[in-house]
Amino acid sequence: GIYDAGVQALFERGVKKIPDKYVKSVHDRPCAKNVVLTRRIPVIDMSKIYGDERVKVIQELKCACEDWGIFQVINHDVPERSMQSMMEMAHRFFDLPAEKKMQYYDSDPSSETRYGISYNADKETILDWRDFLLQRCHPLSDELISTWPDMPSSYREIAKNYAMNIRILTLRLLAMLSESLGLYREYLADVLKEHEQKMLINHYPPCPQPDLTLGVSGHTDPNVITVLQQDEVEGLQVLRDGLWIAVHPIRNAFVVNMGDQMQIITNGKYQCAEHRAVVNSTKTRFSIATFYGPSLDAVICPAPKLIDQDHPPHYRQVIYGDYLRAFRAKGPNKKAYLQSVL
Ligand code: SIN
Ligand code: FE2
Repeated sequence: GIYDAGVQALFERGVKKIPDKYVKSVHDRPCAKNVVLTRRIPVIDMSKIYGDERVKVIQELKCACEDWGIFQVINHDVPERSMQSMMEMAHRFFDLPAEKKMQYYDSDPSSETRYGISYNADKETILDWRDFLLQRCHPLSDELISTWPDMPSSYREIAKNYAMNIRILTLRLLAMLSESLGLYREYLADVLKEHEQKMLINHYPPCPQPDLTLGVSGHTDPNVITVLQQDEVEGLQVLRDGLWIAVHPIRNAFVVNMGDQMQIITNGKYQCAEHRAVVNSTKTRFSIATFYGPSLDAVICPAPKLIDQDHPPHYRQVIYGDYLRAFRAKGPNKKAYLQSVL
């Protein structure tokens, strides 16, 4: 039954061997020889944006997006308190008994607030070693907030506050990114129109056979930009030149990655980063991702200012809602879905 589905239940039952449906094909499994622990993804210090070093920081951001599509931000002005209490809420939600969490269970991938064990339960035959809680965070109406979990009792208040803080950070990042592209500062925010903001809490319990599975399989995010808070447990990796680079957690930092739509808008100048999460046999890991995307009716295409004779458009125009529907319908093999809008 659904009550004993999901990886938390498997972990709590103390299984020694993971069920077949979690075993990835040999090619997809994590393999130590393809993982690099010694390189660092770029780190952007956002406090420098106010001073003499502004031009330099914008340049660093540009290089990070051209070379990596992923970086960490420090001194980002999101209060530490807000980050810590949101992480605490994540722990406390997943500590609830299964039947409480099941009130929020929904297998429909288009449902906007849901606790789940698989991104698309009808499509996926091989599952990830992860349970999650997904919720829409914009616009922050009382009606929307009433769909969020209310356990623990402070959950809604803390999540609302966190969502507002991440929104401020994301808008600052979009302005910096616009500037780094030579576009007017509100360009990226304007393209998103009313925009979508969603929060995804990922919960990865310890796994008895971490070499056979993944917390999240390799993918690029379909949206524009993702702001991720990870705890102190390693797990996130980013693909670069055929190798997986481990993203080492930095206390109070956020990991920021470019999504498919950013690659379309920038006509491929900024790359979306393929990433995945590995699991381990001893530690529970949590991460909290906030996805920023266009509203469903927004039309996405390469920015006209980035197109000229030497830079013809590489992508055709898409309506974001159509992109997302097709992306979801693709089931587990979503990797590089972006190719279809070439
Ligand atoms: C994700 O890409 O959704 C998960 C990333 C992570 O847990 O670090
Ligand atoms: Fe992701």
